[in-house]
Amino acid sequence: MKRIGMLTSGGDCQALNAAMRGVVKGLSNNVDELEIYGFHNGYKGLIYGDYRLLTSADFSGILTKGGTILGSSRQPFKQMRVPDENGLDKVEAMKQTYHKLNLDCLVILGGNGTQKTANLLREEGLNVVHLPKTIDNDIYGTDVTFGFQSAINIATEAIDCIHTTAASHNRVFIVEVMGHKVGWLTLYAGIAGGADIILLPEIPYDINKVIGAINKRTKAGKGFTILAVAEGAISKEDSSLTKKAYKAKVADRKYPSVSYEIADQIYEAAGVEVRVTVPGHTQRGGSPCPYDRVLCTRLGSAAAQAIIEEDYGYMIAMINGETKRVPLAEVSGKLKTVDPDCQMIQEAKRIGISFGD
Ligand code: F6P
Repeated sequence: MKRIGMLTSGGDCQALNAAMRGVVKGLSNNVDELEIYGFHNGYKGLIYGDYRLLTSADFSGILTKGGTILGSSRQPFKQMRVPDENGLDKVEAMKQTYHKLNLDCLVILGGNGTQKTANLLREEGLNVVHLPKTIDNDIYGTDVTFGFQSAINIATEAIDCIHTTAASHNRVFIVEVMGHKVGWLTLYAGIAGGADIILLPEIPYDINKVIGAINKRTKAGKGFTILAVAEGAISKEDSSLTKKAYKAKVADRKYPSVSYEIADQIYEAAGVEVRVTVPGHTQRGGSPCPYDRVLCTRLGSAAAQAIIEEDYGYMIAMINGETKRVPLAEVSGKLKTVDPDCQMIQEAKRIGISFGD
């Protein structure tokens, strides 16, 4: 008999269900007796003992379903060691739930913060397996995270749609792409969508260079310009501020996000019409793309195999097309960012894409 706990934590994304299905199918086909406990709304369910026993029916028909059948919530890692409003020690509470249910292991699906807590639970003696989820693709130790490719498709489609209207109206358009503090999603969607200017957090921009790139296009007879701007994009000037000073500046900013500030600066300097489009959470929604379905089926199956072998304490990663068990202790707390000098950026620059640097 295997007793497995499962939870999805942090911002949701496509293919969470596909990954859980992969794990459960991999186990049910290879383990005689199996009990799956699904914790509701991320670590909250584990802390407060909010769960349900899942059956194979729960995992039927969910390969293509977006969101998560278990629900999710953000439980910041920083807060994990801080007692809740009733003085409850969250880490002890999670351990108690685990032991009360006599679990063999926890399968934890989530991004960087979730992974840190998974590693904390490992250090506390629990058996954990982590599956790398996020549209941001910023998890260190895996080539790709699930949700990323589906989000690229959506962000690219947004840029595609903007192309036709931008061309009709001879306007400058900014499409703001998610990605938190990293630029993976913007880089891929920007190139796939044929953006003329791509601004990433890893390459602080000079607004004069951005305006220069727009003017250059105008002089060349191109009536419109498309910018793919990462939500975490930062100007050269701001990147030299301390973290604290930058936070204070952002809190004081009259614009809802960096894209609107850039739009204003372009309008002021170049006198052209600028519009901002923010696809926002649509990038995390809907059905997973085929790539993510395959990725999650493989990661799920590989996680099941690790559980069968009782080999715990790993993230199941995809490296050079192969699933691998990467020790959580080696990757937890590290961020995978875009290398500003990588070949992909050099190639993009050679075809005339500006990164504003
Ligand atoms: O980490 C995924 C992500 O979608 C980021 O790209 C984005 O910055 C953040 O989550 C948005 O978080 P929330 O859904 O809490 O607004």
